[in-house]
Amino acid sequence: MAELSAEQIVELSLKHTLYDWQQQGTTTPMAIASAKGCEFFTVDGKRYLDFNSQLMGVNIGHADRRVAEAIAEQARTLPYITPFAATEVRALLGQKMAELLPGDIDKVFFTLGGAEANENAIRIAKAVTGRHKILARYRSYHGATYATISLTGDPRRWGNEPGMPGVVHVLDPYHGTQRGTDDAQTALAYLEETIMLEGPQTIAAFILEPVTGTNGILIPPEGYLQGVRELCDRYGILMIADEVMSGFGRTGEWFAVNHWGVVPDIITMAKGLTSSYVPLGAVGLRPNVSSYFDEHVFWGGLTYNSHPLALAAALATIRVYEEDGLLEHTRKMGEVMARHHAELADKHPSVGLVRNIGLFGILELVRSRSTMEPMAPFNGTSDEMKAVGAFLNENGLFTMLRFNGIMTNPPLPITEEQLAEGFAIISEALTLHADPAVTQDE
Ligand SMILES: Cc1ncc(COP(=O)(O)O)c(C=O)c1O
Repeated sequence: MAELSAEQIVELSLKHTLYDWQQQGTTTPMAIASAKGCEFFTVDGKRYLDFNSQLMGVNIGHADRRVAEAIAEQARTLPYITPFAATEVRALLGQKMAELLPGDIDKVFFTLGGAEANENAIRIAKAVTGRHKILARYRSYHGATYATISLTGDPRRWGNEPGMPGVVHVLDPYHGTQRGTDDAQTALAYLEETIMLEGPQTIAAFILEPVTGTNGILIPPEGYLQGVRELCDRYGILMIADEVMSGFGRTGEWFAVNHWGVVPDIITMAKGLTSSYVPLGAVGLRPNVSSYFDEHVFWGGLTYNSHPLALAAALATIRVYEEDGLLEHTRKMGEVMARHHAELADKHPSVGLVRNIGLFGILELVRSRSTMEPMAPFNGTSDEMKAVGAFLNENGLFTMLRFNGIMTNPPLPITEEQLAEGFAIISEALTLHADPAVTQDE
């Protein structure tokens, strides 16, 4: 390969390729050369500790040789074959997924990523129920295709409207730092009222992230998911769990729904399925849904359905979770993360709320603990949040800042030492750039 400098890489990437979710003229990508474990390195040799697993997807850590070798072996033997064929890797991964997926979910449709998984999940729900509406939540992200950006509740939808007809958004139990979280009973009463007002017989499915990701690591109040399950059963609505981000060990279980013993009718996944090494998503179906297609045509298809290279990556990735005991490790490190969160909340008046489940975590910064005014408004930023972000970047900590939130979602093999290193950098950033903005009114 040509040896380009960091400047040339950035310049050519900007000139000839389009970047996500931003004005192209203002974006300043880093030139990255390599990654290993929980770290990555720029072309200029700067080391970053990855505190967000990139887009919360590199769950087993970067550049695991076991997965690289499985991909290489598949590339040498059978890199591609029509999705109408049967392959050993398809047989083995299908069987493994049936074993891992919650409850009696035992059939999967393989896609290219999360959006395509959700796109196919709602198409399946509409076909099976003969209904056309989909319920989704405001604080959600479900993808950037036409249908899935319509399902998405967050501001990324706004620039894509008008979207697909038939989507009804409902409020989440969580209402922001100032209004807090409804208990399950309140949230479910509101949901049931919405279902009644929309006409239950028109609603095919309710799609929700069991633990919401980008929109704030929102852990449902106890009883909420079980209540959603009951309401869906009562009204013949299919429950779709979007586990694109929360699946594959992120919360300390294979899937987030497992924490509450809830089995959705349809589950979608991507990211951690291959640790993001190769694009792959999947839709998992319970027999009550998949059996419909025994008698009816499945009006869907993808050139890259069950792509052998991606399936080989998934099989090898799942083996890594098992071999390395990553679920158990995540539960342990999740406790360590909770202690760091609590310490930061003790030490820094700017830390208003902290949440984590496994290694899925967030700190929400506020200007005052009594008013709980967020450090940046919804869909906005502030000088303080920008300064915190710049400090983390300068000091080699990679994570995502969104509105007033700092994400803490490292790769699952993260060690106690690495967690301590990352949280020390965050603590310093808060001391210098967030705490001084807090009104001392407690
Ligand atoms: C919960 C959730 N669903 C769907 C998606 C879309 O996945 P993809 O970007 O692979 O299409 C994402 C991506 O961040 C996600 O977090």
